[in-house]
Amino acid sequence: MDIKETVSILETVASVPVINSVGTTKDRVVYHSNHGGTFTLWSVGFDGGPKFRMTSGPVEQMAEPRHDSNTVYYTKDVAKGGELHKIYSSDAIEGKESLAVDTPQMRIEGFASKGNLIAFTGATKEEMGLFTSKGGSLEKRQVVPPSATLSDTSERYLVGSGVLAKNPRSLELFIFDLSSGKFTVYTPKAGSVNKPPKIHGTEVLFESDFAGKNHLHVLNAESGEVGPARFAFEDCNRYDAVEHQNYGWTDDGKVWFVGKKEGECKAFIDGGELATPPGYIPGMTVVRRKAYVVHTSVVQPPSVVEAGAGNRLLVENPLPQGVSQNLGSGRMVHFESFDGRRVSALVVDHGSPRRTVVLVHGGPWSEYPDTWGPIICSIAASGYNVIAPNYRGSTGYGEEFRLLDIGDPGGADLKDVVAATDWAKQNGIATETAIMGYSYGGYITLLGLGKQPEQWSCGVAGAPIADWKAMHGLSDALYREFVEVLFGKKLELLDDRSPVTYVKNVRKPVCIIASQNDSRTPLKPVLRYVTELASQQGTFEFHTMPDMGHAVNTAQGLIDIVLPGILFLHKQFAPEAA
Ligand code: 4NP
Repeated sequence: MDIKETVSILETVASVPVINSVGTTKDRVVYHSNHGGTFTLWSVGFDGGPKFRMTSGPVEQMAEPRHDSNTVYYTKDVAKGGELHKIYSSDAIEGKESLAVDTPQMRIEGFASKGNLIAFTGATKEEMGLFTSKGGSLEKRQVVPPSATLSDTSERYLVGSGVLAKNPRSLELFIFDLSSGKFTVYTPKAGSVNKPPKIHGTEVLFESDFAGKNHLHVLNAESGEVGPARFAFEDCNRYDAVEHQNYGWTDDGKVWFVGKKEGECKAFIDGGELATPPGYIPGMTVVRRKAYVVHTSVVQPPSVVEAGAGNRLLVENPLPQGVSQNLGSGRMVHFESFDGRRVSALVVDHGSPRRTVVLVHGGPWSEYPDTWGPIICSIAASGYNVIAPNYRGSTGYGEEFRLLDIGDPGGADLKDVVAATDWAKQNGIATETAIMGYSYGGYITLLGLGKQPEQWSCGVAGAPIADWKAMHGLSDALYREFVEVLFGKKLELLDDRSPVTYVKNVRKPVCIIASQNDSRTPLKPVLRYVTELASQQGTFEFHTMPDMGHAVNTAQGLIDIVLPGILFLHKQFAPEAA
C-alpha cells in the first residue's frame, strides 16, 4: 500500500464517529460522540428520528443525565488540552448551551448532578477538593484524599471511591452526608477493591471483590447494612461476569449492569439478559425498562442500539467501504506468559503472517477488548497485522490480575508484551514486529526499546512517560497520587523503571509524538529523553503537537497524532504487499 492510500485510509478512519457514553433525559437519548469531527453531545429521540448537536465542542465529560428533566451538565477543557475544566449545561430538546459553574482552575475528574445540584471532585496542583454548586454558586465542602473521585449524588449523599485507606492495592467508598457535612470512608473488608458507587435513595450499589471475585453489592447508607445485589431473574448468575463494565439503578429501584468476560459484554436488567449483538458495550442507560447501549466490535464502529428483541438502531455507524476492505478480521486470543500466567490479546490480522504492530494500551488500568478503535483500525487497515496484549494490570480479567501491576510498572507487564510479541511470531501472525503505544503504552514502548532492543524492529511512542520522577514533580494532586499508587509507594523504583535510564541502549528507529499542553504525561521529560537520543547515533523522529493535550478530542487531532506514527512505520517498516 502506498503512502497516499494510507493517508486516505487514516482520514477515513478518523472521520468514523466514536461514541463514548450514552444517557437518557426525560424525553431524549443523549450521547457523547465526535460525529462531525469534535467530541460534543448529541440528542436523539427514544424511537430514533433526527439527531442534533446539543453543544459546541470539544466536550470532555457528561454527568449522567436524570430522567425528570432535559438538562444535561458536562465539562469542557478551557486550557487548550491542559485539562482544566469548567461546567456547562445544555438542553436535550432545545440545545441551548450556557456556563453553569465558573470553577477556578482545576481538573474535574468525578462529576454528577441531581436536580439543580451539581457535585464534583476537582484537583489543583496542591489538593483534591469535594465541591457542590447550586444555581451557579460554588461551595468547597472539604479537602479529600487525592484519588477520591465522585461517581454519583442524591439530594442527600455524595458518593465516590478512591484509595482512601492509604493501601495502594485497595479501593474504598466514600459517602458525604450533605445535611451533616460528615465524610465517611467505607469498606466491607479491609484490603478489598470497591468500585465507583451509584446511589438510589439510601441504597448504594457498588462492585466489590471483598467476597472473592467481583460482584455487585448494595450498602444502605443509613443502616450500614451490606449484602449482594438482588435480582428477580437468574440469567446473570449463569453468565457469571468477570467484571461489571457499567451498572446503575432503574427509576423503580432495580439493578441493571453490563457484564464483561474475555473482551465481550452482555447487558442485564434485574438479572434478566437483554439481547445485544455480539461484541463490547462501553455504555448503557435504562429508562422506563428500556435499555439503550453503545455497541461496538473491531469491525463495528460504535452505534447506539435499543437493546432487546429487535436491537433497533438509533444511531447507525457503518464501517466505510474503503476501510472494511482493508481492515482484516479481529479475534481475542490468549497465551502463556513468561511465568505461565494466562494473558489475552486482541488480534486484528489479514489471514497470513505479515509485519505486525504490537500495540500497547494505556492506563495501565484499561484494555483492548473487542472494540473499534481509530488507532488499532487505522494500523490494521494500512496493511499491518496487529496484536494488542492485555498485559497484567489490564482491566477485564479480575482484581487479582489488575493489581499485579501495582509496585511493578514496567516489570512483568513489559514481559507480557514481550511474550505477546514472541507468541505472534510463533503463531503465524508476525514475520517481524514493531512496538507502538500511547501514554502508558508509549511508556512501555520506550522502556521496551531501551531494555530489550533486539525484540522489535522499530517503535512509535505517543505521549510517553519518559521519566517518572520528573513527571511526578510536574503533576497535579490526582496524578501525583496516581504515580504513588501505581508504584505501591515504592518511589525508590522511579529511576529504575524510567525509559530515560535506558535511552543509551536504544538501537532501533524510534518515533516520538507528544503534545505541548499535556498535563498527564507532560512534555518536558519527553524533551529530555529526546535530547539524550540526539546525542546518540540512532535514527529517531520527534513531533510536538501545538495547542494540544493528552486527550485527543477532534478528528483532526487524531490525524495529527497518528499520521506521523504511520508515516514513520511506512518508512522504517513498510507493510508487505498483500
Ligand atoms: P494514560 O496516562 O495511559 O492515558 O492513562 C497515564 C497518565 C499518568 C500515569 C499513567 C498513565 N501515571 O502513572 O501517573
